[in-house]
Amino acid sequence: MTAVGIDGIEIRTGKLQLDLAETFAPAQDEDPGKYTEGLGLHASSFPDVYEDIVTMGANAAHRLMERKGLTPADIGRIDVATESAFDNSKPVSTYIAGCLEQVYDDNFHHANKGERKFACISGTQSLDDAYNWIRAGRNRGRKALVIATDTALYARDDPGEATQGAGAVAMLVDEDPGLVELSTEQGFGSADETDFLKPNQQFPSVDGKRSMKVYLARMREALEDFESAAGDTHPNDYELVPFHTPFPGMVRKAAALGYRHVVRDTDVEISIAEEIGRQPRREEYKSQEQYFDAVKEYTDALTETERYQAWYADAIEPTLEIAREVGNWYTGSVHVARVAGLKQALEHDRAMAEKKLLVASYGSGAQAEIHAETVVSGWKEEIAALNIDEQLDRRHDISFEEYERIHDVHNHDTENDADAEELITPTQEFVFDGWGRMGERKYRYVR
Ligand code: HMG
Repeated sequence: MTAVGIDGIEIRTGKLQLDLAETFAPAQDEDPGKYTEGLGLHASSFPDVYEDIVTMGANAAHRLMERKGLTPADIGRIDVATESAFDNSKPVSTYIAGCLEQVYDDNFHHANKGERKFACISGTQSLDDAYNWIRAGRNRGRKALVIATDTALYARDDPGEATQGAGAVAMLVDEDPGLVELSTEQGFGSADETDFLKPNQQFPSVDGKRSMKVYLARMREALEDFESAAGDTHPNDYELVPFHTPFPGMVRKAAALGYRHVVRDTDVEISIAEEIGRQPRREEYKSQEQYFDAVKEYTDALTETERYQAWYADAIEPTLEIAREVGNWYTGSVHVARVAGLKQALEHDRAMAEKKLLVASYGSGAQAEIHAETVVSGWKEEIAALNIDEQLDRRHDISFEEYERIHDVHNHDTENDADAEELITPTQEFVFDGWGRMGERKYRYVR
């Protein structure tokens, strides 16, 4: 069977950064450690006044197409995943295609375009759609462009405000991919949950603590479902485990749960048992509460073991490097985690070709998906071609007053306008250019 997967990937961050320890913490009268250690975040990325989900998505896709030497005729499908859409009918993919058509001679008139919604997991669902389209043989040799783009803003003073972020990930899905091959096996954990939602509103209504519990519950279900399809997993099977990363502290909890689950009844559990005992089994406890207490105690001890910490340092920590600097990108977040892990592997000369990743996606509402990916031999060139470090270095570090203004500019309920003062002069990129006669957003390419 021909391999299908991600052939190339590009990341575009919002061009502004809010330093959480230096700028946000004092303004909130909070200890900086809550953000840097508790949540595991250093900074949030924000869009400048002329950036939005369309410009970030189009700029990421443009760089990817240029790097791959593609024109619109090579693309048979554009799927955009977002939960920040500003139009309930016309999909963001049409706006992005319109942008790209400004810089290419041909057009995307024969490409199937759409928009996927399911909170943060829709980026992975769009990847799945593209994979299925190619596997079904309906692509006529063409490739799919999958773009996950969000401005993850919360209402001012919402506890989620510290986890904001903005950016886009563009992925090219193709046969014989250059980065990773996707597994046919998938596992899902899905339930009707009310923890994070936006009923016709821009900023989410969030029950933050509950959202964390739901994340863990659905992730466990997805892992069980994945194992029922792909067989038992073992930590040694996977070189990196990129998770959806609303903030690294969430992944710290999810990784401990996942590890505990996969090592149960394995050589790892037996070897750790000498130090911290066996994992609690439900039948050994009179009540559910006693069992949960024992599980918590065991998990705390597990995360202190050398074996767990070595696994975490190799398989999880590298995937969090970019998230720490940019915050939550919703649909793009797990795809940023994959890139971060591979980027660190490249920098540390880790042999990754033929190695496997276990990719753990999640969206509130709620659904988790686990699938595996196999890194292919071209991965080094793909990752070396990224310019995310330069983008991060070039970001403008905003003051708290600038943050307040930028949050207002991107708030659909406030009077924002295309003339709001920019913080970085745009160059060689798509920018928001005001509104058209039917209230549509307009864009132009700045040369
Ligand atoms: P909070 O209540 O303000 O924070 O909001 P907290 O008091 O729970 O503190 C956070 C952590 O910092 C805790 O760590 C504290 O102990 C620690 P934990 O106990 O959990 O391990 N801490 C400190 N550590 C060191 N030094 C200190 C210090 N002070 C405190 N001085 C919350 C936290 C996550 C609830 C909030 O940010 C929030 O509501 N975020 C939005 C919701 C969210 O991100 N949920 C995550 C799971 S759901 C998901 O991932 C889906 C999502 O991406 C949306 C989608 O799918 O579309 C969000």
